Amino acid sequence: MGFNKSFDTQLNELLNEEQLAMKGALNAAEFSYSPYSHFKVGSALLLENGELIKGSNQENAAYPSGLCAERNALFTYGSAGRKSNIKILAIIAFDEEGNHSETCSPCGACRQVMVEFEELQKTPYKVIFSYNGKIEILKSSSTLLPFSFHF
Ligand code: THU
Repeated sequence: MGFNKSFDTQLNELLNEEQLAMKGALNAAEFSYSPYSHFKVGSALLLENGELIKGSNQENAAYPSGLCAERNALFTYGSAGRKSNIKILAIIAFDEEGNHSETCSPCGACRQVMVEFEELQKTPYKVIFSYNGKIEILKSSSTLLPFSFHF
């Protein structure tokens, strides 16, 4: 399928703050440890105070012990005390050849974590990722997971 409009063109059409978050995700992917899947994922949170918090996928020889980029970014944010609300969560992935992956939509477990962080701050944040060659911008993480788990 590929990108109907090139990735860079689509990136340039985003708002400044969206570009900032996407560039953070791009830089984060550099530190992906993915010798098993060869799929490098980077994620970045742009906070209301302008700070960028980054995460990348970190794999392990015991496969289920690894963790996705999005949860690494979110848990880093949580561990640092959630001092400012999340404004944007961006995700970028690269395939084995180093090309932008045309799809990197967050997995179910990451969606559950994303939604809970949104509920904690009582304000929606945008989620940006590629899907079938198009950069998608969602206004709220909650649209990714209706009927999320609560107790
Ligand atoms: N992965 C992420 O980091 N984020 C996603 O949204 C989907 C998948 C990682 C997990 C694993 O390291 C690799 O991509 C292949 O599944």
